[in-house]
Amino acid sequence: MSTPENEILRRRTFGIISHPDAGKTTLTEKLLLFGGAINTAGAVKAKKATRHATSDFMEIERQRGISVATSVMGFEYRDRKINLLDTPGHEDFCEDTYRTLTAVDSALMVIDATKGVEAQTYKLLDVCKMRHTPIITFMNKLDREGCDPIGLLDEIEAKLKMKVSPMSWPISCGKRFKGVYNLYENKLVLFKSHGKQSEESAVHITSLSDPKLEETIGEDHAKELRDDIELITGIYPPFNHANYLAGIVTPVFFGSALNNFGVKEILDFFIENAPSPLPRQTEERTVYPQDKNFSGFIFKIHANIDPKHRDRIAFLRICSGTFERNQKITNIRTGKVLRPANPTAFMAQAKEIIDTAYPGDIVGIHDTGNIKIGDTLTNGETLHFKGIPHFSPELFKYVVNLEPLKTKQLFKGLEQLGEEGVAQVFTRYNSPERLVGTVGALQFEVIQYRLEHEYGAKCRFDNLSFIKACWLETQDDNTLQNFIRSRTSQIAKDISGKIVYLAETQWSLEREIRENPDIAFHFTSEF
Ligand code: G4P
Repeated sequence: MSTPENEILRRRTFGIISHPDAGKTTLTEKLLLFGGAINTAGAVKAKKATRHATSDFMEIERQRGISVATSVMGFEYRDRKINLLDTPGHEDFCEDTYRTLTAVDSALMVIDATKGVEAQTYKLLDVCKMRHTPIITFMNKLDREGCDPIGLLDEIEAKLKMKVSPMSWPISCGKRFKGVYNLYENKLVLFKSHGKQSEESAVHITSLSDPKLEETIGEDHAKELRDDIELITGIYPPFNHANYLAGIVTPVFFGSALNNFGVKEILDFFIENAPSPLPRQTEERTVYPQDKNFSGFIFKIHANIDPKHRDRIAFLRICSGTFERNQKITNIRTGKVLRPANPTAFMAQAKEIIDTAYPGDIVGIHDTGNIKIGDTLTNGETLHFKGIPHFSPELFKYVVNLEPLKTKQLFKGLEQLGEEGVAQVFTRYNSPERLVGTVGALQFEVIQYRLEHEYGAKCRFDNLSFIKACWLETQDDNTLQNFIRSRTSQIAKDISGKIVYLAETQWSLEREIRENPDIAFHFTSEF
């Protein structure tokens, strides 16, 4: 019988972190195929193709409705309910991408084995590290030449500062790629490629000295594999589940998403080892998924396309209790009571209205402008979830109002787009000037377009040479005031009035940090 307790235990909510082109879309698609959530290869891919065929931001705007549906892809696999949260890359990369990772319980890191660890992976991993999110690594594209498995493991340890635990080991790569040796089940998973088709087959061996090894992969490969395994088992300790859950060690798999090789292996490992919904901290207490009363938080807001209606969909991550349709829930920040009549769940690419949802699930609720990112919803208890911060933008521009009579509309639009997480809006200290900060360049075009079409306000952006926003913290207000006075042109307030320092170069930022030991410089709004 399905009880709330069972429902919690069978849920796995995760996100994929990767650099563009590492293979996230391909892997997502294969995972959905295994889950039976889609039945044709190419479904997710096709969507991506239309999305990126044009760099025209209006086209992306048009696609926003579709991307609501791919924001969360729910599917069933071996009696587990899996919620895969999309972390957009490419031009879509924005703060949302970061914040989505605050709503997951674990992550899958996809690395292109021919390229190693790349920039966007770093950034996303930093967010995971803040919360000690457990991470499984998939080294992709082993069918391509130029992989150095040990070098890749070294790179993760050195650059990402995570311990690694290889769970499978590749037998060569590129044209000579034979498959992988599964270290925890002592089996060989063989790779056969027939032109565009490929298949995998498993051969169980008793140990590495089993002569079946020579029979199946030949003498040279058998020797190479034995040497490699001797080397890696000498360097890396065996997989430790507790260290994985603590985010200290990442189990590593090798495969090829495109060839559907190693995907089932990682999915099977994932459902057995990745955590079910985890407890979460609020300012008041720890919330456990098994708690009777409902609670959750908003991590993303998506505006609807129709410019005449400011309807939005707020993405709610359920943290405890059971969520029921038409149940009264309170937005703790405003005290307002809502009764979601049409809450939606996301199953693969379809949205459907649901009656009940459990911790770990993501529910979309309609909002007419009353919900903000970071809001806590409960059925009465006063709680404030922690760990849904703003992250420092990397690109900053100054907003030039082109129609002074429409200042009110411009400010309203900027405020609402800021709440939606499209960009961060800062107000200069001692002046009403607005600055906009983003992580992706495309966001500026989106803002400009939406301000004009939804709020009737025209603006232009002027470049600013800031590279980072730091939220300042001091014990002593005088210290802060002195700092502000001497650098007013680099001081602003964020959407909730917190003071930020805008750094022009990494060098000057480091100098300020060094020279102001009584001030803490934070790279996220929550500390
Ligand atoms: P992304 O979402 O992380 O950006 O990556 P995506 O899955 O779109 O993959 C990027 C490119 O890498 C695609 O090629 C894809 O086919 C290819 N790819 C993914 N996994 C593998 C793999 O295991 N082996 C090899 N050899 N290639 C892989 P593309 O040419 O950009 O697109 P397409 O024309 O193949 O669709």
